[in-house]
Amino acid sequence: MKYDNFDVNSWGGYAKCYDALNDLKPYQNLQMTVISNLFLSSGNLILDAACGTGNLPCWLKKNKKNFDLTIAGLDFSDEMLELAKEKNQEKYFIFAKHNLNKDIPFADEYFDQIVSVNTLYALSDPARILSEFYRILKRGGRLILVNPKRGYENGLILKEHCSDIGPDEPWLNVHSSKEKEFELLKRAVNDIEVRSKLMAVAKFNCEILKNRKFYFLSLAELSQLVRSQNFFIIRREKVYANQAILIVAQK
Ligand SMILES: C[S@@+](CC[C@H](N)C(=O)[O-])C[C@H]1O[C@@H](n2cnc3c(N)ncnc32)[C@H](O)[C@@H]1O
Repeated sequence: MKYDNFDVNSWGGYAKCYDALNDLKPYQNLQMTVISNLFLSSGNLILDAACGTGNLPCWLKKNKKNFDLTIAGLDFSDEMLELAKEKNQEKYFIFAKHNLNKDIPFADEYFDQIVSVNTLYALSDPARILSEFYRILKRGGRLILVNPKRGYENGLILKEHCSDIGPDEPWLNVHSSKEKEFELLKRAVNDIEVRSKLMAVAKFNCEILKNRKFYFLSLAELSQLVRSQNFFIIRREKVYANQAILIVAQK
């Protein structure tokens, strides 16, 4: 039961170590895949639904030097938003506090594109948020959705990070004991400071993984959910060391 209480305060705690993920190659690749699926057309208005610490705009700035668009990031965690604002002070990034379990306070057909990475699972009603995304997206607009797959293994993200081409088995059930977590992190990450931050990340990931109320869906289930809200799926692929599903869909 205690694992069903991963709430706004837990996300606030996670914010303190969350950015250690930026050191992991699979997370970097994930951000780049999301960016490659965005139309960076001049004047576009993009919603980043549950923007966390604002990593998407950071990766965008690093990799696309000239762009003229606005990204609005919503999140319900003050701690996440504080970091997002600190890291992205340019005028074309706007951040605001909002609980995505409630109606999104934007007019119909407001956004050109919507991005939502690794968040759908934590919301109380995935179908409802997708119908909200559909409502606020312009006709022909794109939704880029990423969600961890059912049965995802955090250890396989570490395995890909260190380009281990051996069998998966030693990397499975990374959270089964503190010793195993530490051993695998030591194998994957040399930098002691990064490693200790990733140990803190592991604590939160372990709690997330055990939360029975979270929606980790198969490719077929996530596709069906997206289609049930009238989206047309353009692309589906496994991302994040094959531990998450990316769907690009159109209104
Ligand atoms: C795993 S993080 C992903 C952050 C970011 N999209 C990324 O890829 O780095 C999940 C985010 O969802 C936010 N979140 C969870 N439930 C939420 C809710 N009901 N409303 C708004 N944000 C929520 C958390 O605060 C956290 O920032």
